[in-house]
Amino acid sequence: MTHPIVGWERETPVPNYKFNDYLSARDGRLFYEDLDLAQLFTGGRQDQGLGKTLPSPLEIIYLPKIREKIKTMRQIFAEVIEEIGYEGQFHYAYASKANAAEEVVRTTLGAGAHHEMSSPVDVEIVRLMIAAGLLPPERMVIANGFKPPGTIYDDKLIQLRREHENLIPVIEDLCEMPPLIDSQLNFEVGLRQKCYGPHQNQAEMDTAHSRFGMDAATIQKAAQIIAETPNLTLKIYHAMVGSQITDGDDFLAWLKPTMEIYAQLRQRHPSLSIFDFGGGMPVPMTLDFDFDYHTFVRRLLTTLQEICRAHGVPSPDVMGEFGRYTTSEHGAHLFKVTTVKENNSRLPWYIINGSIMTSFPDSWALSEHFIVLPLNHLDKPFRQVHLGGMTCDSDDVYPPKPSQSPLYLPVETEDLYIGFFSIGAYQEMLGGVRGSKHCVLPEANELIIDQASNGDYQFQILPGQRTNDVLANLGYRIERR
Ligand SMILES: Cc1ncc(COP(=O)(O)O)c(C=O)c1O
Repeated sequence: MTHPIVGWERETPVPNYKFNDYLSARDGRLFYEDLDLAQLFTGGRQDQGLGKTLPSPLEIIYLPKIREKIKTMRQIFAEVIEEIGYEGQFHYAYASKANAAEEVVRTTLGAGAHHEMSSPVDVEIVRLMIAAGLLPPERMVIANGFKPPGTIYDDKLIQLRREHENLIPVIEDLCEMPPLIDSQLNFEVGLRQKCYGPHQNQAEMDTAHSRFGMDAATIQKAAQIIAETPNLTLKIYHAMVGSQITDGDDFLAWLKPTMEIYAQLRQRHPSLSIFDFGGGMPVPMTLDFDFDYHTFVRRLLTTLQEICRAHGVPSPDVMGEFGRYTTSEHGAHLFKVTTVKENNSRLPWYIINGSIMTSFPDSWALSEHFIVLPLNHLDKPFRQVHLGGMTCDSDDVYPPKPSQSPLYLPVETEDLYIGFFSIGAYQEMLGGVRGSKHCVLPEANELIIDQASNGDYQFQILPGQRTNDVLANLGYRIERR
């Protein structure tokens, strides 16, 4: 039986060992690239620039990883474009719904990514980034999400267009067009295909139960309206088929019918120049990840090339809106094991000083797996355990209840720290930033880590919540004492 591999699966100590491309065991300690994670709490050894120790729990934001992910994907596309003589270009966009934190958006834009967004607050984020000089005029801002007439989002997009020419609303529904037309501003626009989920052909896509996008006939109708409207130009065809699609055959099979529609649309509308496959690019959430990006990209571009040739149209530029791929791996959440509870349960309970379910809502809501490793004592024997959070909620456990994956941690629990990894996409946004959480547990401190050009680490600490912050948020009046 196969199961997601979430950590070390043996009782023997971990030798010096690479778990994946950024986590390794060295002399009993866990390193994120070259950063000794346990040292953040225990100090000792050589200080890496922090100059002090920090309390746990602690959230880690490792910005160099974001830059590396963007660079790698661009490199893969560049190689394949060269290899197969693909005529179009590749555009990397960051889907900011995965993590809208300032340091993340600043980093993706700094790495040259285009920006994808979906809400009125996102518009203000874009305006702030423009004002800070981080989002230059040539950068595309793709506006997805529902934007019916009269909504704040719709109004704000029209306002933003006056400030940023390269704003491209992607139309989800015909009702979204009149405000753009009436604005009399020149807009390049996209059309979103209804294609989310598994399907093998256009008929299955058209009849699928999905609220995203328009069926093929409505797309053709929208394109015709755009063609007849002087201030609108059709630029993007948007076809997102899912998220975290780990099977390349499925990914391609679901995209194929949308490529046919793109090519047909391009025959009639020559301004169309970008095929945007949206999100879906998978990322290692566990240690058994096995997806060959290079092979997938080669198959994607080759298929698109063949279909376009068969329809007598040029191959388009290709865009991806990378959410999970960009930000999953830059985030980690570190805890201390505070109690070992042996109460005749099937496995011993290791209780941590935080909540699993509020920190990573997908673990209980979707039974999602994340990597979990000890930060120290890796050179000591391990045993199979279950993790429990500090809330009194029966779902605050890991591995998730339906999981078949075993979790092994060191038998030695004196000052034992553990980390959850690949949690940087969606988890914080779903759990909420600030506010009040389940069992009123305050939010942890955050440590933002960057690297200077000489490789030295740079640290910035964002304080977490204090008890009074949580109380005030819930409406309690706190007397100054
Ligand atoms: C329109 C759109 N684009 C991109 C994404 C990002 O998807 P992923 O995180 O799979 O990259 C999403 C996620 O929901 C989305 O709705």
